[in-house]
Amino acid sequence: MKPIRKAVFPVAGLGTRFLPATKAMPKEMLPIVDKPLIQYAVEEAIAAGITDLIFITGRNKRAIEDHFDSVPELEADLEAKNKMELLETVRNVIPSYVNCIYTRQAAPLGLGHAVLCAAPIVGNEPFVVLLADDLIDANTSVTQQLVEAAHQQNGSILAIQNIDRQDTNKYGIITGEVVNDKTMRLRGIVEKPDPAAAPSTLAVVGRYVLEPEIFEHLRQTQAGVGGEIQLTDGIASLLKARAVFGLQYEGMRYDCGSKAGFFQATLELGRKYHGL
Ligand code: UTP
Repeated sequence: MKPIRKAVFPVAGLGTRFLPATKAMPKEMLPIVDKPLIQYAVEEAIAAGITDLIFITGRNKRAIEDHFDSVPELEADLEAKNKMELLETVRNVIPSYVNCIYTRQAAPLGLGHAVLCAAPIVGNEPFVVLLADDLIDANTSVTQQLVEAAHQQNGSILAIQNIDRQDTNKYGIITGEVVNDKTMRLRGIVEKPDPAAAPSTLAVVGRYVLEPEIFEHLRQTQAGVGGEIQLTDGIASLLKARAVFGLQYEGMRYDCGSKAGFFQATLELGRKYHGL
């Protein structure tokens, strides 16, 4: 497998579960303590050797572009006031060798459609997809864990987690054969099955390493659950043609797309990293 240098951040969703906070502000800019969700995801990707960050944005998402841009007047002000620590924080949001690329998803037609919007930028290389609302606190960046496993297995690989059966209708659910203690080879994947009908309780969370062949499959994918073009359905099609794997990653995931997960992340990361 070729080196993995590009990461796609789909950030064009409407974030309806956080209304009214997300009426004029992107969900991905909501902070856990003092850092927006999207920055946690970006730092995780950079820790895994990613150099090209591709953001799939939409209306109301300008704040994300501003966040990763430099702010000369703020930097000058902090420098004049000798606030050097804050100056470093502001300057280090993105290292200088990392490229930020933005493209628009004209309408929020689904996660699969959002990923397909990256096709002309990604080209013929494997790439990572990170959903910033899944915040994963880990000793080794989960993206790094996935990239290593993708090279080992020589194929696409998804982060998976065992969940309560009552929650299967919130996730893509996989079935497959065990490859080793952490890795499965997928036989099937289905989006948001009812608990009674779910083929397992192994859920896909918001981290994927995908081979570029996914784009051909997404082009053929029709709207599925919720009337959206689902990444899960594209992957279901991909795995008929190529091996796709699942990795039970090491780390603590917070579903910051839900109020309960967001609150838990604030509490636990606030205690762990900020002594609050
Ligand atoms: P979600 O299912 O969490 O949807 O999308 P959402 O719109 O962000 O939030 P709710 O459910 O209305 O509260 C998962 C990820 O996929 C992106 C979102 O930005 C989020 O990161 N997404 C979803 C897109 O980029 N485009 C879409 O059309 C749909």
